[in-house]
Amino acid sequence: MDRLDGSAHLMIVSDLDFTMVDHLDPDNLGLLRFNAMWEAYYRQDSLLVFSTGRSPTIYKELRKEKPLLTPDISIMSVGTEIMYGESMIRDEDWEQYLNQNWNREIVTEETAQFPELTPQSETEQRPHKVSFFVEKIKALKVIRFLSERLEKRGLDVKLIYSNETALDVLPKGAGKGQALAYLLEKFKVDGKMPVNTLVCGDSGNDAELFSVPEVYGVMVSNAQEELLQWHAENAKNNPNIIHATERCAAGIIQAIGNFSLGPNVSPRDIGDFQKCKVEIYNSCHEVVKFYLFYERWRRAEVAKNMQTPNLIFFPLGTFVHPSGVEQPVSHCIDVMARLHGDKQGTDYRIWVDRVSSEQVGSDTWCMKFYKWEAFGEERRGCLTTVLLSSKAKVPDGFTWMHMHQTWLEGSEPKDETTWLF
Ligand code: GLC
Ligand code: MG
Repeated sequence: MDRLDGSAHLMIVSDLDFTMVDHLDPDNLGLLRFNAMWEAYYRQDSLLVFSTGRSPTIYKELRKEKPLLTPDISIMSVGTEIMYGESMIRDEDWEQYLNQNWNREIVTEETAQFPELTPQSETEQRPHKVSFFVEKIKALKVIRFLSERLEKRGLDVKLIYSNETALDVLPKGAGKGQALAYLLEKFKVDGKMPVNTLVCGDSGNDAELFSVPEVYGVMVSNAQEELLQWHAENAKNNPNIIHATERCAAGIIQAIGNFSLGPNVSPRDIGDFQKCKVEIYNSCHEVVKFYLFYERWRRAEVAKNMQTPNLIFFPLGTFVHPSGVEQPVSHCIDVMARLHGDKQGTDYRIWVDRVSSEQVGSDTWCMKFYKWEAFGEERRGCLTTVLLSSKAKVPDGFTWMHMHQTWLEGSEPKDETTWLF
Protein backbone atom coordinates (compact mmCIF):
# COMPACT_ATOMS: atom_id res chain seq x y z
CA MET A 1 0.00 0.00 0.00
CA ASP A 2 2.87 2.36 0.68
CA ARG A 3 4.47 1.85 -2.72
CA LEU A 4 2.99 5.09 -4.04
CA ASP A 5 3.72 8.47 -2.46
CA GLY A 6 0.45 9.96 -3.63
CA SER A 7 -2.87 8.92 -5.09
CA ALA A 8 -2.98 6.14 -7.65
CA HIS A 9 -3.74 7.38 -11.14
CA LEU A 10 -5.88 4.31 -11.72
CA MET A 11 -6.88 1.48 -9.41
CA ILE A 12 -8.09 -1.65 -11.15
CA VAL A 13 -10.05 -4.05 -8.96
CA SER A 14 -10.54 -7.23 -10.92
CA ASP A 15 -12.00 -10.64 -10.35
CA LEU A 16 -9.76 -13.48 -11.61
CA ASP A 17 -11.65 -16.51 -12.98
CA PHE A 18 -13.27 -15.62 -16.29
CA THR A 19 -12.50 -11.92 -15.79
CA MET A 20 -8.72 -11.42 -15.68
CA VAL A 21 -8.14 -15.07 -16.59
CA ASP A 22 -9.86 -16.67 -19.56
CA HIS A 23 -9.87 -20.41 -18.92
CA LEU A 24 -10.97 -20.96 -22.52
CA ASP A 25 -7.84 -19.27 -23.91
CA PRO A 26 -4.98 -21.78 -23.57
CA ASP A 27 -2.51 -19.23 -25.00
CA ASN A 28 -3.47 -16.61 -22.37
CA LEU A 29 -3.23 -13.93 -25.01
CA GLY A 30 -5.78 -11.57 -23.47
CA LEU A 31 -3.96 -11.73 -20.14
CA LEU A 32 -0.53 -11.26 -21.74
CA ARG A 33 -1.84 -8.21 -23.62
CA PHE A 34 -3.12 -6.74 -20.36
CA ASN A 35 0.16 -7.51 -18.59
CA ALA A 36 2.27 -5.75 -21.21
CA MET A 37 0.02 -2.70 -21.07
CA TRP A 38 0.02 -2.57 -17.27
CA GLU A 39 3.79 -2.86 -16.93
CA ALA A 40 4.54 -0.39 -19.74
CA TYR A 41 2.10 2.35 -18.75
CA TYR A 42 0.51 1.81 -15.33
CA ARG A 43 2.75 -0.06 -12.88
CA GLN A 44 4.59 3.10 -11.78
CA ASP A 45 1.64 5.19 -10.67
CA SER A 46 -1.35 2.87 -10.43
CA LEU A 47 -2.64 0.03 -8.29
CA LEU A 48 -3.60 -3.48 -9.31
CA VAL A 49 -6.03 -5.26 -7.01
CA PHE A 50 -7.22 -8.83 -7.51
CA SER A 51 -10.52 -9.65 -5.85
CA THR A 52 -11.33 -13.34 -6.05
CA GLY A 53 -13.62 -15.93 -4.51
CA ARG A 54 -10.64 -18.26 -4.23
CA SER A 55 -8.97 -19.02 -0.91
CA PRO A 56 -5.25 -18.18 -0.61
CA THR A 57 -4.47 -21.88 -1.31
CA ILE A 58 -6.14 -22.12 -4.70
CA TYR A 59 -5.29 -18.51 -5.56
CA LYS A 60 -1.62 -19.48 -5.31
CA GLU A 61 -2.29 -22.51 -7.54
CA LEU A 62 -3.78 -20.23 -10.19
CA ARG A 63 -0.74 -17.96 -10.03
CA LYS A 64 1.45 -20.96 -10.88
CA GLU A 65 -0.76 -21.99 -13.80
CA LYS A 66 -1.36 -18.62 -15.43
CA PRO A 67 0.90 -15.65 -16.25
CA LEU A 68 -0.67 -13.42 -13.59
CA LEU A 69 1.08 -10.25 -12.50
CA THR A 70 1.80 -9.56 -8.84
CA PRO A 71 -1.04 -7.40 -7.53
CA ASP A 72 -0.53 -4.60 -5.02
CA ILE A 73 -3.45 -5.88 -2.99
CA SER A 74 -5.12 -9.31 -3.01
CA ILE A 75 -8.65 -9.67 -1.74
CA MET A 76 -9.49 -13.33 -1.33
CA SER A 77 -12.30 -15.62 -0.23
CA VAL A 78 -15.06 -13.27 -1.50
CA GLY A 79 -13.88 -10.15 0.30
CA THR A 80 -13.19 -11.82 3.63
CA GLU A 81 -9.37 -11.71 3.48
CA ILE A 82 -7.36 -8.65 2.42
CA MET A 83 -3.60 -8.91 1.91
CA TYR A 84 -1.01 -6.33 0.92
CA GLY A 85 2.02 -6.51 -1.32
CA GLU A 86 4.01 -9.39 -2.66
CA SER A 87 4.54 -10.84 0.79
CA MET A 88 0.77 -10.79 1.28
CA ILE A 89 0.53 -9.14 4.69
CA ARG A 90 -2.91 -9.74 6.18
CA ASP A 91 -5.20 -6.90 7.18
CA GLU A 92 -6.02 -8.03 10.68
CA ASP A 93 -8.28 -5.06 11.39
CA TRP A 94 -10.56 -6.21 8.60
CA GLU A 95 -10.78 -9.71 10.02
CA GLN A 96 -11.49 -8.33 13.50
CA TYR A 97 -14.27 -6.24 12.07
CA LEU A 98 -15.82 -9.29 10.38
CA ASN A 99 -16.09 -11.08 13.71
CA GLN A 100 -19.04 -8.85 14.65
CA ASN A 101 -22.22 -10.91 14.84
CA TRP A 102 -20.51 -13.84 13.22
CA ASN A 103 -20.43 -17.35 14.56
CA ARG A 104 -19.10 -20.00 12.25
CA GLU A 105 -20.38 -22.87 14.35
CA ILE A 106 -23.96 -21.70 14.12
CA VAL A 107 -23.58 -21.40 10.36
CA THR A 108 -22.30 -24.97 9.99
CA GLU A 109 -25.00 -26.27 12.37
CA GLU A 110 -27.81 -24.60 10.42
CA THR A 111 -26.50 -25.38 6.92
CA ALA A 112 -26.19 -29.04 7.89
CA GLN A 113 -30.01 -29.12 8.00
CA PHE A 114 -30.14 -28.61 4.22
CA PRO A 115 -29.49 -31.79 2.19
CA GLU A 116 -29.50 -29.66 -1.00
CA LEU A 117 -26.19 -28.12 0.11
CA THR A 118 -22.97 -29.98 -0.74
CA PRO A 119 -19.96 -28.56 1.11
CA GLN A 120 -17.07 -27.33 -1.06
CA SER A 121 -13.52 -28.59 -0.47
CA GLU A 122 -11.77 -27.94 2.87
CA THR A 123 -9.46 -25.31 1.32
CA GLU A 124 -12.49 -23.14 0.47
CA GLN A 125 -13.89 -23.14 4.02
CA ARG A 126 -12.41 -20.05 5.64
CA PRO A 127 -12.78 -18.26 8.98
CA HIS A 128 -15.38 -15.87 7.52
CA LYS A 129 -16.66 -17.94 4.58
CA VAL A 130 -18.61 -21.18 4.54
CA SER A 131 -19.13 -22.48 1.00
CA PHE A 132 -21.37 -25.02 -0.73
CA PHE A 133 -22.57 -26.17 -4.11
CA VAL A 134 -26.28 -26.04 -4.79
CA GLU A 135 -28.24 -26.67 -7.97
CA LYS A 136 -29.64 -23.61 -9.65
CA ILE A 137 -33.29 -24.70 -9.43
CA LYS A 138 -33.01 -25.24 -5.67
CA ALA A 139 -30.88 -22.21 -4.89
CA LEU A 140 -33.54 -19.52 -4.43
CA LYS A 141 -35.58 -21.55 -1.99
CA VAL A 142 -32.58 -22.68 0.04
CA ILE A 143 -31.28 -19.13 0.26
CA ARG A 144 -34.63 -17.86 1.54
CA PHE A 145 -35.05 -20.53 4.24
CA LEU A 146 -31.43 -20.47 5.30
CA SER A 147 -31.37 -16.70 5.79
CA GLU A 148 -34.51 -16.91 7.92
CA ARG A 149 -32.99 -19.59 10.13
CA LEU A 150 -29.69 -17.75 10.56
CA GLU A 151 -31.50 -14.53 11.34
CA LYS A 152 -33.52 -16.29 14.01
CA ARG A 153 -30.26 -17.40 15.60
CA GLY A 154 -29.15 -13.76 15.76
CA LEU A 155 -26.55 -13.77 12.96
CA ASP A 156 -26.04 -11.01 10.41
CA VAL A 157 -25.11 -12.94 7.31
CA LYS A 158 -24.86 -12.45 3.58
CA LEU A 159 -25.62 -15.24 1.12
CA ILE A 160 -24.09 -14.96 -2.34
CA TYR A 161 -24.83 -17.22 -5.29
CA SER A 162 -22.22 -17.36 -8.08
CA ASN A 163 -21.50 -19.24 -11.30
CA GLU A 164 -24.93 -20.85 -11.06
CA THR A 165 -23.49 -23.37 -8.62
CA ALA A 166 -21.65 -21.86 -5.62
CA LEU A 167 -23.27 -20.57 -2.45
CA ASP A 168 -21.15 -18.60 0.01
CA VAL A 169 -22.25 -17.72 3.53
CA LEU A 170 -20.36 -14.67 4.82
CA PRO A 171 -20.69 -12.11 7.62
CA LYS A 172 -22.98 -9.29 6.53
CA GLY A 173 -20.12 -6.77 6.48
CA ALA A 174 -18.02 -8.96 4.12
CA GLY A 175 -18.12 -9.40 0.35
CA LYS A 176 -16.12 -7.95 -2.51
CA GLY A 177 -17.98 -4.63 -2.47
CA GLN A 178 -17.59 -4.09 1.27
CA ALA A 179 -13.90 -4.96 1.10
CA LEU A 180 -13.39 -2.40 -1.66
CA ALA A 181 -15.37 0.25 0.26
CA TYR A 182 -13.13 -0.45 3.29
CA LEU A 183 -9.98 0.01 1.17
CA LEU A 184 -11.26 3.22 -0.38
CA GLU A 185 -12.01 4.58 3.09
CA LYS A 186 -8.46 3.76 4.16
CA PHE A 187 -7.08 5.59 1.11
CA LYS A 188 -9.30 8.56 1.90
CA VAL A 189 -8.05 8.79 5.49
CA ASP A 190 -4.45 8.71 4.17
CA GLY A 191 -5.29 11.38 1.56
CA LYS A 192 -4.49 8.92 -1.22
CA MET A 193 -7.83 8.36 -2.87
CA PRO A 194 -7.23 6.89 -6.36
CA VAL A 195 -8.07 9.35 -9.14
CA ASN A 196 -10.10 6.65 -10.91
CA THR A 197 -11.21 3.17 -9.92
CA LEU A 198 -12.32 0.52 -12.40
CA VAL A 199 -14.00 -2.66 -11.16
CA CYS A 200 -14.15 -5.73 -13.39
CA GLY A 201 -16.20 -8.88 -12.99
CA ASP A 202 -18.23 -11.67 -14.54
CA SER A 203 -20.36 -13.39 -11.90
CA GLY A 204 -22.68 -13.08 -8.90
CA ASN A 205 -20.08 -12.40 -6.25
CA ASP A 206 -18.82 -9.43 -8.33
CA ALA A 207 -22.20 -7.63 -8.35
CA GLU A 208 -21.39 -5.74 -5.13
CA LEU A 209 -18.29 -4.23 -6.72
CA PHE A 210 -20.53 -2.36 -9.14
CA SER A 211 -22.53 -0.70 -6.39
CA VAL A 212 -19.54 0.95 -4.72
CA PRO A 213 -20.05 4.72 -5.25
CA GLU A 214 -17.99 6.58 -7.83
CA VAL A 215 -16.33 3.65 -9.53
CA TYR A 216 -16.30 2.74 -13.19
CA GLY A 217 -17.29 -0.82 -13.93
CA VAL A 218 -16.95 -3.39 -16.68
CA MET A 219 -18.88 -6.62 -16.93
CA VAL A 220 -16.83 -8.63 -19.41
CA SER A 221 -18.66 -9.91 -22.54
CA ASN A 222 -18.78 -13.43 -21.14
CA ALA A 223 -20.44 -12.30 -17.86
CA GLN A 224 -22.87 -14.76 -16.27
CA GLU A 225 -26.61 -14.36 -16.46
CA GLU A 226 -26.84 -13.76 -12.68
CA LEU A 227 -24.62 -10.65 -12.94
CA LEU A 228 -26.37 -9.30 -16.04
CA GLN A 229 -29.71 -9.78 -14.34
CA TRP A 230 -28.50 -8.01 -11.20
CA HIS A 231 -27.35 -5.14 -13.41
CA ALA A 232 -30.67 -4.96 -15.28
CA GLU A 233 -32.54 -4.76 -11.97
CA ASN A 234 -30.20 -2.47 -10.03
CA ALA A 235 -27.85 -0.42 -12.19
CA LYS A 236 -29.30 -0.23 -15.67
CA ASN A 237 -29.11 3.56 -15.82
CA ASN A 238 -25.60 3.95 -14.47
CA PRO A 239 -23.50 5.28 -17.40
CA ASN A 240 -20.29 4.33 -15.60
CA ILE A 241 -20.92 0.61 -16.02
CA ILE A 242 -20.51 -1.14 -19.37
CA HIS A 243 -21.04 -4.63 -20.65
CA ALA A 244 -17.95 -5.13 -22.82
CA THR A 245 -18.06 -6.78 -26.21
CA GLU A 246 -14.69 -8.38 -25.51
CA ARG A 247 -14.01 -11.36 -23.30
CA CYS A 248 -12.11 -11.27 -19.99
CA ALA A 249 -8.87 -9.17 -19.91
CA ALA A 250 -9.60 -7.82 -23.40
CA GLY A 251 -12.85 -6.46 -21.96
CA ILE A 252 -10.86 -4.66 -19.23
CA ILE A 253 -8.63 -3.04 -21.88
CA GLN A 254 -11.78 -2.06 -23.76
CA ALA A 255 -13.22 -0.39 -20.65
CA ILE A 256 -10.03 1.61 -20.06
CA GLY A 257 -10.50 3.04 -23.56
CA ASN A 258 -14.24 3.50 -23.20
CA PHE A 259 -13.93 5.58 -20.01
CA SER A 260 -10.68 7.29 -21.15
CA LEU A 261 -8.78 6.12 -18.07
CA GLY A 262 -5.36 6.07 -19.74
CA PRO A 263 -3.42 4.35 -22.55
CA ASN A 264 -5.45 1.45 -23.95
CA VAL A 265 -3.24 -0.02 -26.64
CA SER A 266 -1.19 -2.94 -25.45
CA PRO A 267 2.41 -3.03 -26.68
CA ARG A 268 1.54 -6.60 -27.73
CA ASP A 269 -0.83 -5.18 -30.33
CA ILE A 270 1.95 -3.21 -31.98
CA GLY A 271 3.66 -5.16 -34.73
CA ASP A 272 6.37 -2.72 -35.68
CA PHE A 273 7.51 -0.18 -33.09
CA GLN A 274 9.55 1.71 -35.65
CA LYS A 275 6.43 2.53 -37.65
CA CYS A 276 4.06 3.07 -34.76
CA LYS A 277 4.44 5.98 -32.33
CA VAL A 278 3.34 4.92 -28.87
CA GLU A 279 1.48 7.21 -26.48
CA ILE A 280 4.04 7.19 -23.70
CA TYR A 281 7.67 6.38 -24.26
CA ASN A 282 9.66 5.74 -21.13
CA SER A 283 12.06 3.29 -19.52
CA CYS A 284 9.27 0.88 -18.47
CA HIS A 285 7.88 0.77 -21.96
CA GLU A 286 11.41 0.10 -23.20
CA VAL A 287 11.72 -3.01 -21.02
CA VAL A 288 8.34 -4.36 -22.14
CA LYS A 289 9.15 -3.61 -25.77
CA PHE A 290 12.54 -5.33 -25.68
CA TYR A 291 11.17 -8.57 -24.23
CA LEU A 292 8.34 -8.55 -26.73
CA PHE A 293 10.94 -8.24 -29.46
CA TYR A 294 12.98 -11.04 -27.90
CA GLU A 295 9.92 -13.34 -27.72
CA ARG A 296 9.10 -12.59 -31.35
CA TRP A 297 12.73 -13.17 -32.31
CA ARG A 298 12.72 -16.66 -30.85
CA ARG A 299 9.27 -17.43 -32.27
CA ALA A 300 10.54 -16.17 -35.68
CA GLU A 301 7.82 -13.52 -35.73
CA VAL A 302 10.35 -10.80 -36.58
CA ALA A 303 12.80 -11.02 -39.44
CA LYS A 304 16.37 -12.05 -38.66
CA ASN A 305 17.92 -8.65 -38.93
CA MET A 306 20.79 -8.34 -36.46
CA GLN A 307 20.75 -4.59 -36.69
CA THR A 308 18.14 -4.21 -33.96
CA PRO A 309 19.93 -6.00 -31.06
CA ASN A 310 23.18 -4.34 -32.10
CA LEU A 311 21.54 -0.96 -31.75
CA ILE A 312 19.97 -1.75 -28.38
CA PHE A 313 23.10 -2.86 -26.52
CA PHE A 314 26.16 -0.97 -25.40
CA PRO A 315 28.97 -2.91 -27.14
CA LEU A 316 31.23 -2.83 -24.07
CA GLY A 317 28.42 -3.73 -21.67
CA THR A 318 28.28 -6.85 -19.52
CA PHE A 319 25.58 -9.36 -18.73
CA VAL A 320 25.74 -11.30 -15.49
CA HIS A 321 23.97 -14.54 -16.34
CA PRO A 322 21.76 -15.97 -13.56
CA SER A 323 24.28 -18.82 -13.22
CA GLY A 324 26.70 -16.16 -11.98
CA VAL A 325 28.90 -16.13 -15.06
CA GLU A 326 29.73 -12.71 -16.48
CA GLN A 327 29.50 -12.47 -20.26
CA PRO A 328 30.45 -9.67 -22.63
CA VAL A 329 27.46 -8.26 -24.48
CA SER A 330 29.06 -9.07 -27.84
CA HIS A 331 28.93 -12.76 -26.90
CA CYS A 332 25.24 -12.44 -25.93
CA ILE A 333 24.42 -10.90 -29.29
CA ASP A 334 26.08 -13.88 -31.03
CA VAL A 335 24.04 -16.29 -28.91
CA MET A 336 20.88 -14.33 -29.65
CA ALA A 337 21.57 -14.57 -33.39
CA ARG A 338 21.71 -18.36 -33.12
CA LEU A 339 18.44 -18.51 -31.17
CA HIS A 340 16.37 -16.86 -33.91
CA GLY A 341 13.33 -19.04 -34.55
CA ASP A 342 14.36 -21.81 -32.10
CA LYS A 343 10.88 -21.56 -30.53
CA GLN A 344 8.98 -21.18 -33.79
CA GLY A 345 5.52 -22.74 -33.72
CA THR A 346 5.66 -23.38 -29.94
CA ASP A 347 3.84 -21.84 -26.98
CA TYR A 348 6.98 -19.96 -25.82
CA ARG A 349 6.01 -16.69 -24.06
CA ILE A 350 7.75 -13.98 -22.07
CA TRP A 351 6.28 -11.46 -19.68
CA VAL A 352 7.66 -9.00 -17.16
CA ASP A 353 6.21 -8.25 -13.73
CA ARG A 354 6.74 -5.52 -11.12
CA VAL A 355 8.76 -3.28 -13.40
CA SER A 356 10.25 -0.42 -11.40
CA SER A 357 12.32 2.45 -12.70
CA GLU A 358 14.60 4.79 -10.84
CA GLN A 359 16.45 7.64 -12.47
CA VAL A 360 20.02 7.46 -11.19
CA GLY A 361 21.67 10.07 -13.42
CA SER A 362 20.67 12.76 -15.88
CA ASP A 363 20.28 10.17 -18.64
CA THR A 364 20.47 6.88 -16.76
CA TRP A 365 17.78 4.65 -15.29
CA CYS A 366 18.09 1.63 -13.04
CA MET A 367 15.35 -0.85 -13.88
CA LYS A 368 14.27 -3.75 -11.70
CA PHE A 369 11.71 -6.38 -12.62
CA TYR A 370 10.83 -10.06 -12.69
CA LYS A 371 11.27 -11.57 -16.12
CA TRP A 372 9.33 -14.78 -16.77
CA GLU A 373 9.52 -17.33 -19.56
CA ALA A 374 7.01 -20.12 -20.13
CA PHE A 375 7.55 -22.98 -22.52
CA GLY A 376 5.33 -26.05 -22.33
CA GLU A 377 5.12 -27.10 -18.70
CA GLU A 378 8.28 -25.21 -17.79
CA ARG A 379 8.32 -21.81 -16.23
CA ARG A 380 11.36 -19.83 -15.13
CA GLY A 381 11.84 -16.42 -13.66
CA CYS A 382 14.72 -14.09 -12.94
CA LEU A 383 15.02 -11.03 -10.84
CA THR A 384 16.57 -8.66 -13.36
CA THR A 385 18.41 -5.38 -12.96
CA VAL A 386 19.25 -3.31 -16.02
CA LEU A 387 21.02 -0.01 -16.44
CA LEU A 388 19.49 1.97 -19.29
CA SER A 389 20.88 5.08 -20.87
CA SER A 390 18.90 7.45 -23.04
CA LYS A 391 21.96 8.44 -25.08
CA ALA A 392 20.92 6.11 -27.85
CA LYS A 393 21.73 5.90 -31.50
CA VAL A 394 18.04 5.19 -32.05
CA PRO A 395 15.79 8.26 -31.82
CA ASP A 396 13.55 8.13 -28.71
CA GLY A 397 15.49 5.07 -27.66
CA PHE A 398 17.57 3.69 -24.84
CA THR A 399 20.86 1.82 -24.77
CA TRP A 400 21.05 -1.27 -22.55
CA MET A 401 24.30 -0.77 -20.65
CA HIS A 402 24.54 -3.58 -18.09
CA MET A 403 22.30 -6.39 -16.99
CA HIS A 404 22.28 -8.68 -13.98
CA GLN A 405 19.98 -11.63 -13.34
CA THR A 406 19.33 -13.94 -10.40
CA TRP A 407 17.07 -17.01 -10.53
CA LEU A 408 13.81 -16.59 -8.70
CA GLU A 409 13.18 -19.31 -6.15
CA GLY A 410 12.71 -22.70 -7.77
CA SER A 411 13.55 -21.40 -11.24
CA GLU A 412 17.08 -22.83 -11.65
CA PRO A 413 17.01 -25.05 -14.73
CA LYS A 414 19.08 -28.20 -15.22
CA ASP A 415 20.33 -26.88 -18.52
CA GLU A 416 21.20 -23.19 -18.44
CA THR A 417 22.47 -22.89 -21.98
CA THR A 418 19.28 -21.64 -23.58
CA TRP A 419 18.64 -18.87 -21.05
CA LEU A 420 19.61 -15.47 -22.27
CA PHE A 421 18.45 -12.11 -20.97
C1 GLC B 1 -14.43 -19.45 -5.91
C2 GLC B 1 -14.22 -20.08 -4.55
C3 GLC B 1 -15.49 -20.73 -4.05
C4 GLC B 1 -16.64 -19.73 -4.08
C5 GLC B 1 -16.78 -19.18 -5.50
C6 GLC B 1 -17.88 -18.15 -5.62
O1 GLC B 1 -14.66 -20.41 -6.88
O2 GLC B 1 -13.20 -21.06 -4.65
O3 GLC B 1 -15.30 -21.16 -2.72
O4 GLC B 1 -17.82 -20.35 -3.67
O5 GLC B 1 -15.56 -18.58 -5.87
O6 GLC B 1 -17.69 -17.08 -4.77
MG1 MG C 1 -15.26 -14.85 -11.97
